[in-house]
Amino acid sequence: MFLQGKSKSTVGLDVGANSIKLVRLEHDKTGYSVSAIGIRELPPEAIVSDEIRDREAVIFNIQSLIDQTDPKIRDVVVSISGHSVITDKFTIDKKTGPETEQAILFETEQRAPFDVEDVSLDYHIIKTDDDINKMDVLLVAARKEYLKMYLDLIEDCGLRPVIVDDDAFAILNAYENNYEVDSTRVTALVNIGHDVTNVTYIAEGLFSATRDVSAGTRDIYDAVQKEFRLNPELASKAMKGDLADSIDQDMFKATVISASEELVSGIELAFSYFRSQTKIDAIDWIILSGGGALVPSLPEFLQSKINIPLELANPLRNIDYDPELFQYVQPEKIAPLLTVSVGLAMRKAR
Ligand SMILES: Nc1ncnc2c1ncn2[C@@H]1O[C@H](COP(=O)(O)OP(=O)(O)OP(=O)(O)O)[C@@H](O)[C@H]1O
Ligand SMILES: [Mg+2]
Repeated sequence: MFLQGKSKSTVGLDVGANSIKLVRLEHDKTGYSVSAIGIRELPPEAIVSDEIRDREAVIFNIQSLIDQTDPKIRDVVVSISGHSVITDKFTIDKKTGPETEQAILFETEQRAPFDVEDVSLDYHIIKTDDDINKMDVLLVAARKEYLKMYLDLIEDCGLRPVIVDDDAFAILNAYENNYEVDSTRVTALVNIGHDVTNVTYIAEGLFSATRDVSAGTRDIYDAVQKEFRLNPELASKAMKGDLADSIDQDMFKATVISASEELVSGIELAFSYFRSQTKIDAIDWIILSGGGALVPSLPEFLQSKINIPLELANPLRNIDYDPELFQYVQPEKIAPLLTVSVGLAMRKAR
């Protein structure tokens, strides 16, 4: 058969408040390789947090991104995040088969801050401990209304959402497939987006918890735009460090620092909450991703405030790619931005 040996591919589509990111990964026995990539920025207020304010503009931009990347793309893996999605971890007695599902549903009803009727549930068994006959379950619940609105949007772009994932799991997936997870160190994966920062913890080599901080780089973007009186296009350039020659760099740094107060204290608060909940005293290192990892001075400032070793994520670390696909940019320069889309494209969609 002529199809034999052909690798399978998955497209990850990450629709963020600031930009849409698309990555197609070929899956074969030896690993992954990138076969398509695209990024397209949205108008400033088209999406704010998880609220789609200008549906037409979002659809237009998704379609344009598909056209410019590969118009044949139909199947996509997407993710949802924000207020309409809840994740929770709990331990139950070990079960098998359909009993598992029943036990999880029962547990969910006991602890859910929402009506189980109104949500779509998905779960994942993190670990099973045969000695004590228990298992750790991770639950993801999404409000049905929100899920439907989001899926309708993707379908109205002419696409087929084959898997709906969650940002946190995409980030975790991208990390686990690119790095050797060190089970002796507690890792915080911090993904700074435009409106939301997702923090996901790995302890003893396994997923431990995840939390969204309602702050991102938007405050910095707004402050930079105002301080230097820039139009949206130039403000975006400044955020990428592309105006280094035309704006005062000390002033830029000072603007970034003063506008990231809420973001930094949100991350600090999330860390101290995690430590108190888990009785883990120290987070050993931070892997920073999202566009926030690329804003000049922000990673250094974050590290100096939080005082935990920090490394920029490279979700392409273990992935083959042709640098030509990236056109004008160096892949490692924008890699942190692609973390969610790479994690989504790692899912087996067929
Ligand atoms: N090379 C770059 N391309 C795009 N955005 C960049 C780049 N460098 C820095 N940024 C900044 O990163 C921020 C957006 O980050 P990101 O793309 O992770 O957010 P998002 O996914 O669109 O938003 P959210 O996850 O909150 O919905 C913007 O403020 C943008 O200015
Ligand atoms: Mg994002």
